[in-house]
Amino acid sequence: MKVAIGCDHAGVSMKNALVPVLDELSIEWEDFGTKDEESVDYPDFGEKVSEAVSKGIVDRGILICGTGIGMSIVANKVHGIRAALCQEDYSAKMSRLHNDANVLVLPGRIIDKKKAGEILKTWFTTDFEGGRHQKRLDKIKDIEEKQK
Ligand code: RB5
Repeated sequence: MKVAIGCDHAGVSMKNALVPVLDELSIEWEDFGTKDEESVDYPDFGEKVSEAVSKGIVDRGILICGTGIGMSIVANKVHGIRAALCQEDYSAKMSRLHNDANVLVLPGRIIDKKKAGEILKTWFTTDFEGGRHQKRLDKIKDIEEKQK
């Protein structure tokens, strides 16, 4: 499992706190920036991480901005991305079980780092259920194709 992690200035501190959690889970990671708190534009980092997932360079992505909303909007524009903005464990679990989410989005200014770590662990240790949910993902793929 290899993961791309990225954020804007509002997510740097949370990103730095999550890297040891990835190490704990033995997940290989690559930091796509940003690396300090100087103001940047979240679409630049959201696009890079999402493209790496879309092209199969990494297996999954993690994105963090202030609310998580901007990063979610960006990530879900990229082909094949199913990004889930999660503020609690239940959504993290369901986004894997039912949606096979391949990008986890976290809100750096809304939840604390401890909660973010818990969400991250849940998200990486929950597998997609398949079955009836696969049919729904296929429909999402069809919509994506129609929009090309
Ligand atoms: C940056 O100030 C903030 O707008 C950004 O981190 C994010 O919350 C956007 O959705």
